Amino acid sequence: EKGTYPHFMLKEIDEQPFVIRKIINEYQTNDNELKLDAAIRRAMKASDRIYIIAAGTSYHAGLVGKEFIEKLAAIPVEVHIASEFSYNMPLLSDNPLFVFISQSGETADSRAVLVKIKEMGHPALTITNVPGSTLSREADYTLNLYAGPEIAVASTKAYTAQIAVLAILAVDTAQAKGIELDFDPMQELAIVANAMEILTDQKETIEELTREYLATTRNAFFIGRSTDYHVCMEGSLKLKEISYIQAEGFAGGELKHGTIALIEEDTPVIALATQANVNYSIRSNVQEVVSRGANAMIISMKGLEQDDDALVLPHVHELLTPLVSVVPLQLLAYYAALHRECDVDKPRNLAKSVTVE
Ligand code: F6R
Repeated sequence: EKGTYPHFMLKEIDEQPFVIRKIINEYQTNDNELKLDAAIRRAMKASDRIYIIAAGTSYHAGLVGKEFIEKLAAIPVEVHIASEFSYNMPLLSDNPLFVFISQSGETADSRAVLVKIKEMGHPALTITNVPGSTLSREADYTLNLYAGPEIAVASTKAYTAQIAVLAILAVDTAQAKGIELDFDPMQELAIVANAMEILTDQKETIEELTREYLATTRNAFFIGRSTDYHVCMEGSLKLKEISYIQAEGFAGGELKHGTIALIEEDTPVIALATQANVNYSIRSNVQEVVSRGANAMIISMKGLEQDDDALVLPHVHELLTPLVSVVPLQLLAYYAALHRECDVDKPRNLAKSVTVE
């Protein structure tokens, strides 16, 4: 139930720090070791290439998961949109492992791929919020998200739970392969949970930013590079689906290859700057759009911030920034929808789980 909250979406955004703490508890032994099914560990270690299959927000979490698995566990990863996979099935590696990411565990597009790859005899792991769901029952292995029921159609806490579980999976695989890591994943996730809480306490600031940047606009752009780009895709999906503002997430470096033509006087541009190695280049992209009239704001991270940034996120481990940078984007979408008197929890034309292909 939503209790004192006006909408499930806002409640679910606020629950995110608790979900991260729950995930830490569920995936940790009393001796502070990672606790993952040994069979999953073996399957990950045995695979020479991981194929992540998902739709919508879960696909966006998969893009972040790819970075974790490649950077930490040194296994190549491909991320595919479920509905596209069958038409252009890539040449598979010798020992593929399929990882399905699905909040509901019922998405028909993902299930169609699962059925197909099981027929081909390949192993599958499902990461889902609903144990016992179709995708979880039909896969060989399951990891639970422990996010609690997600009621709002727009996915929020499931996205961050997916990213946290993918981080744990990547670290566990790295350990299984004997790769030394220079950080304690659970400690870093605990820092993330605190950072999320600091952000969910800043609703007034974010509501104010929404009024300043998104009150009357028909479109908006989110720009970022590297990890930030993937979070921009998620931020723009949130804004589209609940406020009906036409929004797109772009890779900063691609702007000059076409998209910048769309920038007009007052076009809102929301830039993420959480990564040291692209801090300079994303900021020059912002200057480019501002000089063409854009109404741009920068959301940066402590340590990388500059004077005029609209919001500075608390510092977290560089790989885990999506878990915190997405929170203000979720809130921007929420307040934009409120402002436009849209039905936040039940946006038009959408269903919570999409059980048709
Ligand atoms: C967006 C959203 C959808 C779902 C997509 C996949 O907020 O909720 O894009 O992420 O339909 O659903 P699941 O994760 O249940 O497979």
